[in-house]
Amino acid sequence: MKRQWWHDKTAYQIYPKSFCDSNADGIGDLQGVISKLDDLQALGIEILWLSPVYLSPMADQGYDIADYYSIDPRFGTMEDMERLLAEARKRGIAVLMDLVVNHCSDEHEWFRRACEDPDGPYGQYFYIRDWHEGEKLPTNWCSYFGGPCWDKLPGHEDKVYLHLFHKKQPDLNWENPALRQEIYRMINWWLDKGLAGFRIDAIINIKKALPLCDYPPDRPDGLCYVSTMLRHAHGVLDFLDEMARNTFQKHDAFTIAELFDDRPEDLPRFIGEDGCFSTIFDFSENALDSSPNGWYDRKPITAEQYKQAVFAAQARAADVGFMANIIENHDEPRGVSRYLPRGERSEAAKKMLGGLNFMLRGLPFLYQGQELGMENVPFADISQIDDISTLDEYQGALRAGLSPEDAFAAVIPFSRDNARTPYQWNASANAGFTTGKPWLMVNPNYPRINLAEQRGRTDSVYHFYRELIALRRSPAYRETVVWGSLEPYLAHQRNLMAYWRKGEKTLLVAGNFQAGPQVMPLPHAPRQILLNNLPDIDLRADGVHLAGYQFLVMEM
Ligand code: GLC
Ligand code: CA
Repeated sequence: MKRQWWHDKTAYQIYPKSFCDSNADGIGDLQGVISKLDDLQALGIEILWLSPVYLSPMADQGYDIADYYSIDPRFGTMEDMERLLAEARKRGIAVLMDLVVNHCSDEHEWFRRACEDPDGPYGQYFYIRDWHEGEKLPTNWCSYFGGPCWDKLPGHEDKVYLHLFHKKQPDLNWENPALRQEIYRMINWWLDKGLAGFRIDAIINIKKALPLCDYPPDRPDGLCYVSTMLRHAHGVLDFLDEMARNTFQKHDAFTIAELFDDRPEDLPRFIGEDGCFSTIFDFSENALDSSPNGWYDRKPITAEQYKQAVFAAQARAADVGFMANIIENHDEPRGVSRYLPRGERSEAAKKMLGGLNFMLRGLPFLYQGQELGMENVPFADISQIDDISTLDEYQGALRAGLSPEDAFAAVIPFSRDNARTPYQWNASANAGFTTGKPWLMVNPNYPRINLAEQRGRTDSVYHFYRELIALRRSPAYRETVVWGSLEPYLAHQRNLMAYWRKGEKTLLVAGNFQAGPQVMPLPHAPRQILLNNLPDIDLRADGVHLAGYQFLVMEM
């Protein structure tokens, strides 16, 4: 496999609205990000992805873009963005923006002009169909945020438009070459500015199965999940190859796609040597608890399921390319709250979960606050929730017959707002995020979990992540940690997740994924212990006696 400049990096996602507020309006901003670049550098971060900061009415927190060429005033100005790029470059940090091109905002000029003249050129930028009151909608697809995918075209009683996400996120018609050219022009404009690349949003959705048609209903409301339509769609890779040729390849840009519902056999065309993206996120463990009924029906994920999903994904990518490994992002609850059982979320357990993920083959991609072990939020009432997806899932749970209390309790552990509360900088008011009123509540555990406290304590979760990153970058182990192969070890031993990383050196990575102790047999004594999340190690003739949630990286 050809080595790439980004393979040995550690990447970090910033959710700008909740990272750092520089002007006391309660909303994080670009100046805030700039003021914290030294902290990111100190952690060892070399790739930074910013969730959207473009002009947006914020129906879906910036994933609804009204102008791809301007920065939303809530986040700052274009000068701020340019300064951020320059300041990051000085610190050896490559910056990625979010590329949201399956849809735009209904307040984008293209959509306004399509509404003014649906038969004109901008009408062709969207999926607009004739429809008369009382008729069935053009298709029975269920939008990702609930309800039908079609809404009345503003100003027209007899037309509807398609939105796979929120109704304020009309889908762009990629079949139209003029639209595709507009998008390529915009991408090149940003890359010319010095952007290193993009995280690419919801990209599988750009190709619809044509002609648009109904599929058998698979939900109580008679609608059908979009995933069924996507299974019938062919040709997304032709669009993506064309986009890559016209944009990313010319700039040697780094691209990381959010890809769900892709066909496993297509993986080489996505992330292989001549693939259309540099890499994709591995979501296999995040998808483990999904239920066709909705969030309320999700079951806790066991350590065994987690391990098998990760190993399967590692095997799929092994000869193809590099995937990006995550335990959480802005669309998921906090990893420590999801994958560790309630009552067992100690610092040791958090380090084990982070370490097992970080040492996998691929690009480690942290989400803001993960390096502190930030946890889900004890929301007390649905009125505290901002996220449209949570509000929809809550309604779904009520429709399924749950009481308001049960619906709330079932849905809240999966709310996207768990990961969207402000970053916990220190123990002062609002966790040091803002001196104003934060746009979303701060997790009340901030006096206990915050960066200032952890920075001052060498056995903190934060310092453990620093050690992981330092190991990845170290001249002695980089070769093995980054490019070494991965082979599961004792995969059938219950609640043990262990694997070899083999390159110049031979490393054994092991996590005891349970509160109780267990013995892991070893082929021979380790040469050296490189990382241990506990003060001690109990090596005996029959192997290493692991304490609950112990995590080790051993050189063998
Ligand atoms: C992606 C984003 C998510 C957004 C959706 C629609 O999944 O990560 O936050 O709601 O796309 O753009
Ligand atoms: Ca602000």
